[in-house]
Amino acid sequence: MKDDHRLKLKEITLGGYKSIHPDGQRVEFGDITVLLGANGSGKSNLVSFFKMLNVITNKGLQTYIEKQGSTDALLYYGAKKTDKIEFSVALESERTSTCYKAKLVHGMPDRLFFAGERITFQESGVKQPQEFFIEDGKREAGLPDDKNPKSRALFCALAGIRAYHFHDTSDTAKIKGNGYIDDCRFLHSDAGNLAAFLRVMKNDSAQQRYYERIIRHIRKVMTQFKEFDLESLPGNDNYTRLNWYDTASDYLFGAHQISDGSLRFMALSALLLQPPVMLPSVIVLDEPELGLHPVAIAELAGMIKTASAHCQVVVATQSTRLVDEFHASELVVVEWDENNHGTVFKRLNEEDLADWLARYSLSELWEKNVLGGRP
Ligand SMILES: Nc1ncnc2c1ncn2[C@@H]1O[C@H](COP(=O)(O)OP(=O)(O)OP(=O)(O)O)[C@@H](O)[C@H]1O
Ligand SMILES: [Mg+2]
Repeated sequence: MKDDHRLKLKEITLGGYKSIHPDGQRVEFGDITVLLGANGSGKSNLVSFFKMLNVITNKGLQTYIEKQGSTDALLYYGAKKTDKIEFSVALESERTSTCYKAKLVHGMPDRLFFAGERITFQESGVKQPQEFFIEDGKREAGLPDDKNPKSRALFCALAGIRAYHFHDTSDTAKIKGNGYIDDCRFLHSDAGNLAAFLRVMKNDSAQQRYYERIIRHIRKVMTQFKEFDLESLPGNDNYTRLNWYDTASDYLFGAHQISDGSLRFMALSALLLQPPVMLPSVIVLDEPELGLHPVAIAELAGMIKTASAHCQVVVATQSTRLVDEFHASELVVVEWDENNHGTVFKRLNEEDLADWLARYSLSELWEKNVLGGRP
């Protein structure tokens, strides 16, 4: 059953950000939104906007800019060409629609400042929307400090949008190291606390069935996998790590002995199959298919569908295998458009495509360049 009283992400308009022209682009979101496009088309740029949005809700924009090295990395063709990023994020529930709008204006010394930050709120059956303005010129967003209950609801929904990236499976990746056992409230964006996150699920009687569901899914793609050993470390009670057993012996394997694809799949299953009450409001994944076997990709699609009953999922992908698991109405084709001098986002028109869809799979149509989004 869907929890449709929640505020859902409906639409983002964005301009002046990375490859997106200052005139702006609009992207609509559903329960599942699959961003499909060629290399360099702008999929990860949109994913990075979600990360920046999360940073904004944590009042960490200035530190984030410092980490980028310069505002040039964020502004469309740099600060010499573009002086502001403009965005609006619209959310909707059954009874209300609400929107957060802001401009990030370039100023010295190479900083972005908030301007025109405002919240609109519309209740169904009420003609006039309410609008709340937040003071201009701040280095960090005013929304997190706004005590208005309507702003609080919007803030909570925006703060619940999370982007995840499980690509780092190198020997120094956090996911393979020791993790503090209490660091288990939510899964980190790099799954660095996966062991602690799974441990609390395993040991809590109310959550155990979700832990077991995760284990069942891992076994489907890594058949020799039996169970995690998430006990605290000998001599270091506050820490745990991702140790595991296979079905063949009682040899204790360490996280460094899990294959890269299996480790990513473990993180994806923990994220997507965690207890529904713990899910973020929106999960954003960039190329989650990386290094996965076709069987694991089909499982991944199933897990995305399971999670989408309780939270929205946005997936940027290049995988024809993954795309074929979804419906044309869930696809957004991402293209770098010469006329627009930047990234454009297009929803498919199912009526126009009906004849094609009757004869071909979505990936075949993509490969034939019927959908666009090809190099
Ligand atoms: N500040 C910027 N201004 C203008 N264009 C930019 C800026 N930053 C990045 N780009 C453009 O965005 C492209 C990268 O886009 P992105 O990383 O989103 O691609 P992608 O669709 O995720 O591709 P892949 O499938 O290879 O991951 C760069 O090649 C560049 O053309
Ligand atoms: Mg990318």
